[in-house]
Amino acid sequence: MSMTLLEREAALALLDRPAADPRPELTRRRRSGRGSQGRRGARPGLSVTGGTGAGHVPVLAEELLEQLDPQPGQTAIDCTFGDGGHAHLVAERLGSAGTLIAIDRDPLAEQRFAKLAAETACSVRFIRSGYAEALAQLTAEGLRADIAYFDLGMSSMQVDTRERGFSYSYEAPLDMRMDPTQQLTARELIAEWDERRLAVALRDLGEERHAGAIARTIVRLREQAPIETTQQLVEAINSAIPAPARFGGGHPAKRSFQALRIAVNDELGQLDRALPLAWGLLREGGVLAGISFHSLEDRRVKRFMAERAQGCICPPDLPVCVCGREPEAALLRRRSIVPSPAEVAANPRATSARLRAARKLREATP
Ligand SMILES: C[S@@+](CC[C@H](N)C(=O)[O-])C[C@H]1O[C@@H](n2cnc3c(N)ncnc32)[C@H](O)[C@@H]1O
Repeated sequence: MSMTLLEREAALALLDRPAADPRPELTRRRRSGRGSQGRRGARPGLSVTGGTGAGHVPVLAEELLEQLDPQPGQTAIDCTFGDGGHAHLVAERLGSAGTLIAIDRDPLAEQRFAKLAAETACSVRFIRSGYAEALAQLTAEGLRADIAYFDLGMSSMQVDTRERGFSYSYEAPLDMRMDPTQQLTARELIAEWDERRLAVALRDLGEERHAGAIARTIVRLREQAPIETTQQLVEAINSAIPAPARFGGGHPAKRSFQALRIAVNDELGQLDRALPLAWGLLREGGVLAGISFHSLEDRRVKRFMAERAQGCICPPDLPVCVCGREPEAALLRRRSIVPSPAEVAANPRATSARLRAARKLREATP
């Protein structure tokens, strides 16, 4: 069955929308009376490796689906819609009675969402904002969900769009904003942060061993001429790192670029605010999952879930429990789930991915 004219026009208008439209919310729609079987591009029981309808293969997709186990009629929140790879797979499982809420701060993701909206049977909604703010908004609305998941970091779409300046591999303006309407860019940060603040960011967010030397070099070089492009920054980093350290540990600018991206987009602050909000939105029995790409993210997801999975916190020498604390969560796996060698071979960007998931057993004991 085809879309109504209104639905088709809405989907086409979304595809045509200029990238920097600042509207915080895109679409809220319910379709009725249409199962996934009859739709173009819909493949029930889809093998993940067979494609997603989103034009790229999402990381740990099969594993994520197995942990989330989406059921017809459920409500799912994709906190990091990106290219919509995971969302397409989840939406297929939710069916026409289900609801998918997608969040992303990137207008490119908003454009990709139009494709999913046009193809899926379930009720869909897109919120363009940081996921911390979007989840706070959903909480204020009183939403309850069965599934919430994060696929953290930047999307392939972002890193492959040269002019966004996310990659040390291409010459581009130093930008790195996931939301191009945001004020702070990597260029500003490099131009304005003092040496100490730069060094702390490079060390804490990039785990860069040469953070002090790189910060010092940046400050020295920017006094001579502004550092405005990715390759100017790569040169500055190269000149700060001792020659032996430039070989063998991946690209010498990798850690600094990671640190800058995390700082520009306040990625850890967003995650710290978002995890409790996502958890609070889940019904009992609901599942929270997070795919991380570096230890700073993974540690947060792990700690968040472990704290909720902990029961009694009485001192061990007490003969009986007096705290009365019951675990709120069950970890679906004790260890993180990592991609198979076959996935890494097919998609090297999956190499450092770690998936963790937990089921909500009950609301927090007061
Ligand atoms: C790794 S990609 C997600 C890919 C997606 N799962 C897929 O299968 O196509 C991460 C996405 O999350 C978005 N993102 C990262 N941090 C965000 C935040 N704090 N708020 C909203 N979106 C965020 C990025 O803009 C990016 O599009």
